[in-house]
Amino acid sequence: MATINDNYLKLKAGYLFPEIGRRVSTFAEANPDAPIIKLGIGDVTEPLPEACRNAMVKAIDDMGNRDSFKGYGPEQGYAWLREKIVAHDFQARGCEVDAGEIFISDGSKCDCGNILDIFGDDNTIAVTDPVYPVYVDTNVMAGHTGPCNDQGEYEGLTYLPINAGNHFTAQIPNQKVDLIYLCFPNNPTGAVATKNHLQDWVNYAKSHGSIILFDAAYEAYITDPDIPHSIYEIEGARDCAIEFRSFSKNAGFTGTRCALTVVPKTLTAQAADGSEVELWKLWNRRQSTKFNGVSYIVQRGAEAVYSEAGQAQIKGLISFYLENAKIIREKLTAAGLQVFGGVNAPYVWVQTPNGISSWDFFDQLLHKTHVVGTPGSGFGAAGEGYFRISAFNSRTNVEEAMQRITANL
Ligand code: MLT
Repeated sequence: MATINDNYLKLKAGYLFPEIGRRVSTFAEANPDAPIIKLGIGDVTEPLPEACRNAMVKAIDDMGNRDSFKGYGPEQGYAWLREKIVAHDFQARGCEVDAGEIFISDGSKCDCGNILDIFGDDNTIAVTDPVYPVYVDTNVMAGHTGPCNDQGEYEGLTYLPINAGNHFTAQIPNQKVDLIYLCFPNNPTGAVATKNHLQDWVNYAKSHGSIILFDAAYEAYITDPDIPHSIYEIEGARDCAIEFRSFSKNAGFTGTRCALTVVPKTLTAQAADGSEVELWKLWNRRQSTKFNGVSYIVQRGAEAVYSEAGQAQIKGLISFYLENAKIIREKLTAAGLQVFGGVNAPYVWVQTPNGISSWDFFDQLLHKTHVVGTPGSGFGAAGEGYFRISAFNSRTNVEEAMQRITANL
């Protein structure tokens, strides 16, 4: 009989968001008239920017014409998109990134998992706690951990607690770790990192030969001008960091799928024979073998983000969701809850009232108010006692959800 990858059996019952979906479906089946408002998974709700839609329509027309038809595109993505990304997102912020170091993909979540293909199985791995569950689960699947304990912590991972005491930015570890996942603006806490904090991480990584896997999927939500948007704003980061970015949260591409990963050509790691190997070459080989690129139509849509109209429209979208976050923060604060995040990020991290557990608060809100959030403990043991509320929804739904929650506290 064929055998399975037994590492999958180590995974906790379900990926967090399907588990929430399961509980919500069960509730909805039993209460078909309940007006459920979903502020759980961070999925956008507002229409795609007009500039992107127009570009995609034009690209569909290109596909209908033999002269402009496109078959397989470059596995790294079209150069015209990579060049715009570099100019607007990196060089404009003083980051030294070349278009040849950008890889267009179908999602940051996919890339955060796939990147493990190019690293050895004996690396030590650090994640924050709480953390975006994809970093942990993909390492479990790859066999990089032991079993899970009762608190939901996997043996072999280094957990770096983040909490109000350290402003939700992890303390640099004393021991050596090889791979470090950092996410700023942070999912789930909505915290941001200062230049100094990121410089400390880069210095640590450089002195230990570690690689930082920097998830910047929410950078567009940074409102504070002193907060860096990219790890490459930090001196030395080209020698120790890979960055993941996405069009999902800035331009509403969660259903359209387009993202990018930056692998600097200066970045190396060690082979079994002790030689230093360029990670860019490995990732390029991996993508060329396992990936056929993002569709031409979608890449044209992403390119339109950088047009004048596109820039104005995504600014509008981001401000809209940030205003939702402000409403959530203000209403819950006024109701006596302690809230974090939501200023430079679309997530608000809330301390549950009266010490109630995260899942109990989830069930209480679902049953009493028909509002769905995300239990903090789903992001890790240190998330217990917290609850994440996403600002991705219509204004009406956000206002209604806040009214219902505050009336029921
Ligand atoms: C979340 O809710 O944490 C996000 O939707 C995750 C994601 O973008 O995959």
